[in-house]
Amino acid sequence: MTVSQESAPTDPPVPTGPTALGPCRRSVVAAVGAAGIAAALTACGSGDGGGSGPTGDASAAGGGVLAKTSDIPEGGGKIFADQGVVVTQPKKGEFKAFTATCTHQGCKVTKIEGGTIDCPCHGSKFSIEDGSVKHPPATQPLPAKQIKVSGDSISLA
Ligand code: FES
Repeated sequence: MTVSQESAPTDPPVPTGPTALGPCRRSVVAAVGAAGIAAALTACGSGDGGGSGPTGDASAAGGGVLAKTSDIPEGGGKIFADQGVVVTQPKKGEFKAFTATCTHQGCKVTKIEGGTIDCPCHGSKFSIEDGSVKHPPATQPLPAKQIKVSGDSISLA
């Protein structure tokens, strides 16, 4: 009697609409996602590998020239905060480099004086010769960083 009328209207229209939209939307999102990732990768690639890029920034953010040898005082050193590096010249013509992060609790060292690299946070001091601890509370030396001196230019290796 009325049984056939109840089941008839529920079947055809409901699945057609959403089912048709679902895959299309996913495809569009996937396409945009892939394009976005490609664009991001392209942007990253061009910014990193270009060497001397269009920005004209000469700072050594990775392998570029860090300083001139004449910038580093003999018997002292210089802190390159942006690169997180300390370059020292314990003896004339002998250059060393260390991380600028204190091994005690991670502050950045801020001063080089009297043959030591000094941390302002708790007073640790490190040797400009080998990064060894000259004054606690730090117990571990400043790890060395690799640098390359060619001519009068010092760069991160
Ligand atoms: S973090 Fe450098 S002395 Fe504590």
